[in-house]
Amino acid sequence: MRILVGVGGGIAAYKAAELVRTLGVRGHEVQVAMTRAAGEFVRPLTFASLTGRKVITDLFSEEGPIEHIAVARDNDVLVVAPATADLMAKFACGLADDFLTTTFLAFTGKVVLAPAMNSAMWLHPATQANLSTLERRGCSIVSPSDGWLACREMGPGRLAEPAAIVEHVEALMRTKRDFEGENFLITAGPTQEALDPIRYISNRSSGKMGYAIADAAARRGASVVLVSGPVSLTPPPQVELVSVRTAQEMRKAVMDHLAEATIVVKNAAVADYYVASVPQQKLKKTAARLSLELDPTPDILAEVGEKKGDRLLVGFAAETENLVEEARRKMLSKHCDMLVANLVNREGLGFEADNNEVEIITRGGKTAHAGPAGKRQIAEQILDQIALLRLTLRAVDASA
Ligand SMILES: Cc1cc2nc3c(=O)[nH]c(=O)nc-3n(C[C@H](O)[C@H](O)[C@H](O)COP(=O)(O)O)c2cc1C
Repeated sequence: MRILVGVGGGIAAYKAAELVRTLGVRGHEVQVAMTRAAGEFVRPLTFASLTGRKVITDLFSEEGPIEHIAVARDNDVLVVAPATADLMAKFACGLADDFLTTTFLAFTGKVVLAPAMNSAMWLHPATQANLSTLERRGCSIVSPSDGWLACREMGPGRLAEPAAIVEHVEALMRTKRDFEGENFLITAGPTQEALDPIRYISNRSSGKMGYAIADAAARRGASVVLVSGPVSLTPPPQVELVSVRTAQEMRKAVMDHLAEATIVVKNAAVADYYVASVPQQKLKKTAARLSLELDPTPDILAEVGEKKGDRLLVGFAAETENLVEEARRKMLSKHCDMLVANLVNREGLGFEADNNEVEIITRGGKTAHAGPAGKRQIAEQILDQIALLRLTLRAVDASA
């Protein structure tokens, strides 16, 4: 890979030398560009020696063609480490007053930012807002870690280890684009069904699995609409988020977006029951037992199954027993092409957890197992199975 490493003027600039060295050892072609402030911490000679190339420090050069455009065009990925608070602010605003900021604007490939700074600077709302803007625009962030900082404080803001930055860059560039042209409609998270103006019934779904699938599908080239119940997650970049609260709202959002969808993934944990007539006033506590009258919510998966046409429909089942039998029954009754089933009563897996372990069952009777692993990895495996199923269904269509 051809990698442009932009070095910002932070104390962690010395760690960029190890990053550049490792990228070179791993066979990548590295060009370094330093900001003026970076030159206060490390001399260009260090990077020139490690790369065997002249380090770019100036926007205005006497030599040859317009260098920032040529460099932006010739590199596959731009890695900025350390990404200072100042650089992130400039990138977010679109300022172009030196070589690195101008090249950032001209760069059309993938951009990886590895921020590093004092904890207060990192947690400042301005820095966090710039970070969100850059993430939303597609920059990939290698988050700083917690630890001992050069300012002799403990806290978040420490540059990720060079090996972790290399791993992040390589994983990002490995990403397949096998879902280009597909429109995913994904639901995630729980729903909340009101009992009175301040109370609700909900469940323990965190939305992490659905968000990981949405993120992975977008990275693999799909256009993604994510219909999400209330969760505390940052929506993945390049995904259209539709926020809903109740099962009724989720049904409406799904039906509104169904026409454009080619692949529907129903990962949300939708409430099965709701209170049809919610009292206008807060329920008062009395000594008497309180009974709730609940009505069934709309079965969104079944409705999508009936209207699915030639869309690929993937359902999820969270079970506490008889996993595969229950999943198969649900897949057939709801007209799903694939069902992802997980046992949810195990410590550290499934609901709320970062990890998961699932059985992936398809109509043709094939079963694949994924995990235990992080939800990002499981998301990739689910997408691999969807890609396989799509191939099989196309082959069947072609031979019909
Ligand atoms: C000793 C010292 C250490 C600094 N460390 C950092 C840092 O780790 N992160 C950061 O964002 N800024 C840091 N700064 C502030 C930046 O150097 C300053 O904002 C500069 O304008 C950044 O320029 P650049 O983003 O163009 O490289 C530091 C400044 C000094 C004097």
